[in-house]
Amino acid sequence: MNKNILITGGAGFIGSHVVRLFVTKYPNYKIVNLDALTYAGNLENLKDIDQSPNYYFEKVNILDADKIESVFKKHGITDVIHLAAESHVDRSIVSPLDFVYTNIIGTVNLLNVARHLWKEDYSNHLFYHVSTDEVYGALGKEGLFTETTPYHPNSPYSASKASSDHFVRAYAETYHMQTVISNCSNNYGPFHFPEKLIPLFINNIITKKPLPVYGDGLYTRDWLFVKDHALAIDLVFHQGKVDDTYNIGGFNEWTNIDLIKLLCKLMDEKLNRAPCESEQLITYVKDRPGHDRRYAIDATKINKELGWHPTVTFEQGLAETIDWFLANQEWLNNITSGAYANYYESMYTNR
Ligand code: NAD
Ligand code: DAU
Repeated sequence: MNKNILITGGAGFIGSHVVRLFVTKYPNYKIVNLDALTYAGNLENLKDIDQSPNYYFEKVNILDADKIESVFKKHGITDVIHLAAESHVDRSIVSPLDFVYTNIIGTVNLLNVARHLWKEDYSNHLFYHVSTDEVYGALGKEGLFTETTPYHPNSPYSASKASSDHFVRAYAETYHMQTVISNCSNNYGPFHFPEKLIPLFINNIITKKPLPVYGDGLYTRDWLFVKDHALAIDLVFHQGKVDDTYNIGGFNEWTNIDLIKLLCKLMDEKLNRAPCESEQLITYVKDRPGHDRRYAIDATKINKELGWHPTVTFEQGLAETIDWFLANQEWLNNITSGAYANYYESMYTNR
């Protein structure tokens, strides 16, 4: 069956992997990438597929409801996979309102357009909302987040994502729209923006800058290779139960300090540096306010119902990630110098 899928946030880290997967795997689908190209959006992430006949890009801010509606009409959008968001916890602590606007109001704008244009028959349409495990709050030493864990967001970022999840559920309940939500753990991989732990530290190790470890470094995250998240999104989109929710995780918990030491060791080997050279860069700094101690996902439901499981081990995924960053230092330099913003101008203004 043909579909015209709007993928929001497709120029970002995870979105670009989802766009690439859908454009290449489903040549009969029209894939429309809607993205405002904020600091985190980068069309270079998609340059290998941006000439594909089934790929379209629309530079639109999800705060602009009229423009969203025009894009829906222009492309006859049948389904939405919504990833556009402000995604960095540290930024949410500095500027919470940016997160309220994009993550809450932007999501409601998309829901409203979909509701209005699909109302004749919701049964042929799906609104898929991509969310985070951070909505569940922090775990102690024991236990895992399941789909029924109560929401307890602790940062402005997670509060905004929790709110957007509630709106999606409310639209399913109130207007009988078909929706689905997935809540995923920490992703890592190629094209990860170098403000987040793993790519920031890879960049700092390459350039021999300090590695700022928040607090005691004993915070725990559950890491998943981004391509496995994209495969999970494909499965949930096509086979997930409507109006349901799926947790996605890596079964792969690491304290920050253990992960950072592993990263230093692997990078020293790749860069032919002396053993433990990069560990000298580790610098303990002031903790992040409201820092969640531990996240860990129970992904049993998506495994049992849809047969999903991670396809790469952490060792494989981390090695692929480090190799990618070492081979793409120009990508990193373009971001850190801000030059990538010119890519859009040169690529799209004359088309
Ligand atoms: P990202 O910050 O790398 O990318 C976000 C994208 O959204 C960018 O391309 C940006 O330009 C776009 N965007 C931001 N504001 C916009 C607006 N107002 N209008 C249109 N586009 C806008 O984020 P990411 O890490 O790829 O995360 C994608 C989604 O997955 C987010 O919804 C995030 O909450 C969720 N998520 C992320 C992780 C993770 O580990 N990164 C884990 C679980 C869930
Ligand atoms: O759990 C899913 C979430 O994972 C996503 O929803 C978010 O969009 C994504 O940013 C990520 O959130 P985290 O806050 O867990 O990721 P971050 O990479 O910012 O931090 C990972 C851990 O490393 C966290 O405990 C804070 C710590 N840290 C982070 C940075 C940037 C440091 O110790 N030093 C740092 O410089």
